[in-house]
Amino acid sequence: MKYVIPFIFASSIPVGVAVAQTDTESDYEKGQYIFDLSGCASCHTKDQPLAGGLAMDSDFGTFYTPNITPSAANGIGGWSQYEFNQALRNGISPDGEHYYPAFPYTSYQAMTNEDLRVLKVYLDSQPAIEQANLKHDVSFPFDQRELLGVWKWLFLDPLQGERNAIKTASTPQLDRGAYIANALGHCSECHTPRHLLGGLRNVGMIGNANGPEGESVPALTGPKAEQFNSWSLDDLEIFLEMGMSPSGDFAGGSMGHVIDNSTSKLTDADRSALANYLLTLSEQ
Ligand code: HEC
Ligand code: HEC
Repeated sequence: MKYVIPFIFASSIPVGVAVAQTDTESDYEKGQYIFDLSGCASCHTKDQPLAGGLAMDSDFGTFYTPNITPSAANGIGGWSQYEFNQALRNGISPDGEHYYPAFPYTSYQAMTNEDLRVLKVYLDSQPAIEQANLKHDVSFPFDQRELLGVWKWLFLDPLQGERNAIKTASTPQLDRGAYIANALGHCSECHTPRHLLGGLRNVGMIGNANGPEGESVPALTGPKAEQFNSWSLDDLEIFLEMGMSPSGDFAGGSMGHVIDNSTSKLTDADRSALANYLLTLSEQ
């Protein structure tokens, strides 16, 4: 069911004949690529594709990811592009409520309009699944969504994406790598430590002893990145493609999902851009 649209187009295209791509087809494919890179499925798919229900434990309680299929009753069916962009970039729901930063809009805020547009085309084409959302299990005062307004004022830096880009913008390839790492791949959301209120500390990806599910997440920059600093460009590209590190171990835990769902699906050019960008971090 997931691939209904390309299948319909593909079946009507005679083999060996060059056919101009229709907008719909290429938008769907571009959207699927953005969807893969930004790892939406890692959090929003539990039993049924994109129907949510995955429990995310945190210091503040347990969050359950919502249904993001096109169901009007249970998902995000009928949302306008504006509403979708507001959710992904500013963490605001169509009713004007604030989202918890367990939803990594702190990274997605740097996504381009075009990427958000094609991402929505892809999501709108998925089957609607009627599965109701579960209520988050977070205790007072964290159950007060209004307080998230203060949190955002403190920690949601609207210029962060641009600043990340400026910091590294030496070549178009490194820019592209920075965009994949910081906006789409949201690598910082796990590799950067958080402070007591759950915001990302402004210290870069120096490693995080208290990552998702209590995992320890290794450093990609800074003094603790000794191990990572010894990796070559080839090592890193192989790791991002297959999950195998230079020691021959395979990445486990949540990084295993990042590799399966996202970095293994990068084009060669994008994987190389991401790897080259990450290596500039080890020089910092
Ligand atoms: C790290 C886990 C995680 C990832 C990755 C993630 N989300 Fe979410 N998302 C959440 C959580 C948790 C919420 C609920 C936030 C809340 O209730 O305040 C959420 C909420 C949402 C909502 C609001 C739904 C509603 O009913 O109001 C949308 C839309 C959404 N996510 C889309 C996406 C898309 C698109 C992607 C990929 C680009 C994505 N999410 C990636 C965890 C995630
Ligand atoms: C959901 C959390 C999460 C996200 C998001 C994430 N990582 Fe990881 N990463 C981990 C964990 C956990 C490990 C350790 C895996 C292990 O030891 O098996 C890891 C390991 C790594 C390593 C190996 C480093 C070493 O010294 O062994 C690299 C490289 C890496 N991640 C790069 C990335 C990149 C690039 C991104 C963004 C595209 C990313 N990670 C996003 C959790 C995450």
